[in-house]
Amino acid sequence: MIEFQNVSKTYPNGTHALHDVSLSIDKGEFVFIVGASGAGKSTFLKLIMHEETPTSGEIVINGNKLSKLRRRDVPYLRRHMGIVFQDFRLIEKMTVFDNVAFAMRAVGENTATIKKRVPYVLNLVGLQDKMKNKPNELSGGEQQRVSLARALVNNPEIIIADEPTGNVDPELSHEIIELLNEINAMGTTVLVVTHEHELVREFHQRVVTIDRGRVISDSRSGRFAAGASEDYDEDDYSLDYNEYREESGFTGEREFSDDEILESYEGLGYDDADDSGEPDGDSPSYPDNVVIVPDDDDRLG
Ligand SMILES: Nc1ncnc2c1ncn2[C@@H]1O[C@H](COP(=O)(O)OP(=O)(O)OP(=O)(O)O)[C@@H](O)[C@H]1O
Ligand SMILES: [Mg+2]
Repeated sequence: MIEFQNVSKTYPNGTHALHDVSLSIDKGEFVFIVGASGAGKSTFLKLIMHEETPTSGEIVINGNKLSKLRRRDVPYLRRHMGIVFQDFRLIEKMTVFDNVAFAMRAVGENTATIKKRVPYVLNLVGLQDKMKNKPNELSGGEQQRVSLARALVNNPEIIIADEPTGNVDPELSHEIIELLNEINAMGTTVLVVTHEHELVREFHQRVVTIDRGRVISDSRSGRFAAGASEDYDEDDYSLDYNEYREESGFTGEREFSDDEILESYEGLGYDDADDSGEPDGDSPSYPDNVVIVPDDDDRLG
């Protein structure tokens, strides 16, 4: 389903983020991706979602070479993916409900389905009481869960979650991985970046360890590569994530504006504003029709 063939990524500023990565992930797999801050984990995910492109090598998704992907095909690729961004990328001016609902509108779901599905998914992540809040009224962990709900809401074929447990307490972390595990059991492919090695050990799934841009271990037994690299120090990974980032001083992320976030959902393959849910051909974008302000009858309460 996802194949990396000798993929390297050097950013324009000269940073070598990934080096000669080859691996494949089958449909229905659950894969943890671990490694120190700055190792290249987010870069790996961004290459899959085509937010970044490789400097060399090829990525094949469902038989399609990403190097051959046309710009207007990108929304079709993303349609199959539910993405939990490390930096959440919530739209500040929208409520929690609308932050999740707009992902459904972007693919042309009808209002009745949205009204049922959004509360259901928010309930799954424990946010049923926060539907009317705006992101800036939520804790970091709550925002993270909105981002998770948005990733799940369209039942994607593949879920790509960048540190979905980075801002929540251990119990909730456990629940989030449990939830992803259940979704995986129903057939969804799941990729999860995490620093929480306790969880990784517990769930006995495939673990890909990235160290300074290289895959240093790929294990199917829930183990990872302590000792595989000379200066690999497992303690590096057991810090609380926020401590971890503070210590490393690295965020690797920039702020995305509401408009940029909306743009990334634009043209997800449907552009009808009539809520019919029918595809209307392969129009690449629908700037006028992205319904970002909900119909009144979408609002709760
Ligand atoms: N847009 C960018 N431009 C230049 N360098 C970047 C960019 N994004 C990431 N990097 C660099 O690429 C390397 C890998 O970054 P990446 O974000 O993939 O790390 P990570 O494993 O996700 O780290 P973390 O656990 O802190 O999120 C780092 O050295 C980082 O500084
Ligand atoms: Mg990262």
